[in-house]
Amino acid sequence: MIPNTLRAAADARGFRIGAAADPGLLEMEPEYASTLCGQFNMLTPENVMKSGPIHPASDRYEFGPADALMRFARRHDMQVRGHTLVWHNQMADWLSHRSWTPGEWRSRMEEHIAAVAGRYAGQIAAWDVVNEAIADDGSLRASPWLKGIGPTYLESAFRAAHQADPAARLFYNDYGAEGLGAKSDGVLHLVRKLLDRDVPIHGVGLQMHVELNDYPLPGQVADNMERLGRLGLEVQITELDVRLPQPCSTAALERQAQLYGDILDAGLAAPNCTALTLWGVSDRHSWVPGFFHGWDHALVFDAEYRPKPAYHALLKRLVQAGCKDRPGEQGASPPPS
Ligand code: G3I
Repeated sequence: MIPNTLRAAADARGFRIGAAADPGLLEMEPEYASTLCGQFNMLTPENVMKSGPIHPASDRYEFGPADALMRFARRHDMQVRGHTLVWHNQMADWLSHRSWTPGEWRSRMEEHIAAVAGRYAGQIAAWDVVNEAIADDGSLRASPWLKGIGPTYLESAFRAAHQADPAARLFYNDYGAEGLGAKSDGVLHLVRKLLDRDVPIHGVGLQMHVELNDYPLPGQVADNMERLGRLGLEVQITELDVRLPQPCSTAALERQAQLYGDILDAGLAAPNCTALTLWGVSDRHSWVPGFFHGWDHALVFDAEYRPKPAYHALLKRLVQAGCKDRPGEQGASPPPS
């Protein structure tokens, strides 16, 4: 039987295809929930596990929304990517406007990691332990964590996460470092240093937020994945979306489909790439229009949850990849794109 959902095709290939998810929509929109569990075998909490939402006061955690997503994932046999333990954005006010000593900053960070990663220990497939710590020029971003603790904050964060959840694969996650260039060289240098110090890091997340006319060349993405693989690291495409200029044309949707397919092909061809996550379920709730005025339509389901050409491009490639892995199925023709 030829798989007719992204999830079934990814399962047949032993690949993970995920979506960023908002627990508040699970109850509000049945079609959101059914698309999430029907088309994806993995989910990433889009916001509810970030320090601001989950740890709003120094002595208070709000685990409810994250717990709801964990329950949904368990009920539908989906893996969860934890996102994210240490980031300079969406930090709780109590955490970001303080003048602590480096020791106090480190303790607060380690306490946060122990509480959040510890709560879900054994249930998270991969954690984005540190998000976006590298600046465009490849140097360490001057985040509150770097200013508060110093460059060792990354090592401390990964060690604390591993102590809290030894089962989770621990990732460094960033944008603009998917292909080759100063920033991806900076990420390579960072993870190599961590590995040299026996820091428990297992993978690098390539966010892949791109637009139709500005994206990393798939060949360079492949080269970057390969050089990370040479360090023994896993890679995952963690936040893929391809924003289009409004008004959206048929030609743009077709080019978007081609780009989605090319990015998935690069991931499927890389032995160390284990997953691809879309940064949202459908265009109705994408972050893009709120952050990029005049851009939208970035995902593979439209605002009415109808599959777009990009959906069919992903399905076709996943089915083809699955057939390649099962020689007996060579004859199975992929669904029309
Ligand atoms: O929850 C509050 C709500 O109570 C309030 O009424 C409303 C208006 O102020 O804001 C709501 O919080 C918003 C949150 O999304 C949840 O919707 C924040 O303002 C808004 O800034 C936040 O945006 C998120 C953004 O990260 C923050 O930087 C996006 O949804 C989310 O998609 C985006 O995701 C990031 C990844 O985590 C890291 N990689 C880049 C990616 C895109 O920026």
